[in-house]
Amino acid sequence: MKFFIDTANLNQIKEAQNLGILDGVTTNPSLMAKEGITGKENILDHYSKICNIVDGDVSAEVIATDFENIIIEGEELANINPQIVIKLPMTHDGIKATKYFSNKGIKTNVTLIFSAGQALLAAKAGATYVSPFLGRLDDISTDGLNLISEIREIFDNYNFQTHILAASIRHTMHIIDCAKIGADVITSPLSSISGLLNHPLTDIGLEKFLSDYKKGNK
Ligand code: E4P
Repeated sequence: MKFFIDTANLNQIKEAQNLGILDGVTTNPSLMAKEGITGKENILDHYSKICNIVDGDVSAEVIATDFENIIIEGEELANINPQIVIKLPMTHDGIKATKYFSNKGIKTNVTLIFSAGQALLAAKAGATYVSPFLGRLDDISTDGLNLISEIREIFDNYNFQTHILAASIRHTMHIIDCAKIGADVITSPLSSISGLLNHPLTDIGLEKFLSDYKKGNK
């Protein structure tokens, strides 16, 4: 399973990269705004900086919603760096654009997926990734993990090459459950990834090992 970090914060991206477990980055307009990155030139420049930190795929989301402008914006994003994956909304024009970019061999990530039918359509259009939003479904008392399972079953039935990128991760158990189901990728805030490190018995065990070592090596 690949680990992507879901942020536009360069320090957090560097921290995950330095840990040695990072396979890519996802961003969205909200995450860019959170870092104070505004204006087209600054946004393009920020994507370029992210690509210089990580080796893997970096999802960059289009703002346009109509087909013609999605294509213009998507091509501009794709020209920044070969690592860029164009993130497209799960809409009529977004799916049309997915097919367009897929035909050109440009990677896509169809975002805001909330049903198995949407994921199926995105896969049919040749999406590289589909992003089901786990946490946002859980937020409204709907089983987000069940959606990931449904998509896994459908993609396996037909051997779709589209990767399931579990998004809107809220905590460590989401990551573990996605791994059990067989999501290809999770994209998560750094806090949930770092949370996987911790266990009190590890801390207690290490403390004991170190104190026993000190006793024996006085
Ligand atoms: C990822 O591609 C999404 O933009 C992101 O995971 C959404 O997460 P949120 O529901 O926490 O905003």
